[in-house]
Amino acid sequence: MSKLESILDTFPVDKIRLDFPILASKVHGKPLVYLDNAASAQKPWPVIDAVRNYYTAQHSNVHRGVHYLSELATQKYEEARVKVQKFLNAGSEREIVFVRGATEAINLVAAIYGKIKIKPGDEVLITEIEHHSNIVPWQILCEEKGANLRVAPIDENGEVILDEFNRLLSGKTKIAAIGHISNALGTVNPVKHMIEMAHRKNIPVLVDGAQAVPHLPVNVRDLDADFYVFSSHKVFGPTGIGILYGKSQLLESMPPYQSGGDMIKSVVFEKTIFNDIPHKFEAGTPHIEGAVGLGAAIDYVNSLDWKCVQEYEQALLQFAEEEITAIDGLKIIGTAKEKAGVISFVMEGIHPHDIGTILDREGIAIRTGHHCAQPAMKRFGISATARASFAFYNSREEVQSLVHSIQKVKEIFVHV
Ligand SMILES: Cc1ncc(COP(=O)(O)O)c(C=O)c1O
Repeated sequence: MSKLESILDTFPVDKIRLDFPILASKVHGKPLVYLDNAASAQKPWPVIDAVRNYYTAQHSNVHRGVHYLSELATQKYEEARVKVQKFLNAGSEREIVFVRGATEAINLVAAIYGKIKIKPGDEVLITEIEHHSNIVPWQILCEEKGANLRVAPIDENGEVILDEFNRLLSGKTKIAAIGHISNALGTVNPVKHMIEMAHRKNIPVLVDGAQAVPHLPVNVRDLDADFYVFSSHKVFGPTGIGILYGKSQLLESMPPYQSGGDMIKSVVFEKTIFNDIPHKFEAGTPHIEGAVGLGAAIDYVNSLDWKCVQEYEQALLQFAEEEITAIDGLKIIGTAKEKAGVISFVMEGIHPHDIGTILDREGIAIRTGHHCAQPAMKRFGISATARASFAFYNSREEVQSLVHSIQKVKEIFVHV
């Protein structure tokens, strides 16, 4: 038995699948094969139970009450913050801000850090494979400030050209914003190295970790990231909540984002004294059950053997790539040496939407389109791909169903 087969055979995927009730569903009368994990991951029982339990036994508003339930909800909410801190290995829970998701986190930094740091003629550096969430907020900021957006190009494999990235880090660059893993191509960027390059020139770096947290342990202190953002729903937690990690001295130097309740220490009409970090950035009633659910997702993820999970995911990806590339007329877009979780592909003469629609009839959920990464698509001279994206609960049999159904797509199109 090859090493790959032995990894695929020994990983307890059947047992893990039982934790995710939705995976037992049928779609169009066929067993669901969920390969749209890069868009959003499914939820295990502990997350569902934690949210249910929160609503049935713990709910009230946080930070404001002296009564039992308010104190309990506050305790659960703040416990979740500490779980996130440990999950990212941040130095303090003060560095963990609850936001709506990766998108809001990037908007917050672009709006606020940008407001105090960016001046006309300054530069913001991103890369060509960013998600629109890590492009548009910087574009808007640059337009408002008369600054310039610089873009480090990628090569034909979908890897950032590091010499170019380094060259584009100039005396004018005020921040670099880079994805950890590309949602469109699966490229794992060497972010630690890229951060080192930026720091050598005293440039802070925001890392968009939306696609990284479900696939690899993240250590913000080891990376030395200045900001790191992710969304709970991609790491098996609830929707509507996400994280902005920021080094405390940076967060402290930034004025508030939104204002209202909770982000203040005192208000008189003449002057408001803002709360300390992280509460300064959490105006209004937060997504309390979201935080509780995210905490449960982190506990769940921590309960897995990550060495085995990563080995399995890599083996599954390799197996899927080998099987898929064998299909005549199919081309994988994104062939970086280091990839995680994603296979993007195009098929000669068949629109990705048609692939997606036919696979759906087979119970297979993939995503088709530009994946909110139109510049990356443009780089490859295409407007869309079909994308299968994997989590550790996907099985070898599901990959085989995918391959079998892609063959069917081909057969259908041969006859039209
Ligand atoms: C790399 C990347 N960044 C940012 C986002 C935005 O995440 P959200 O929509 O949860 O804010 C996504 C979502 O697909 C993503 O893949």
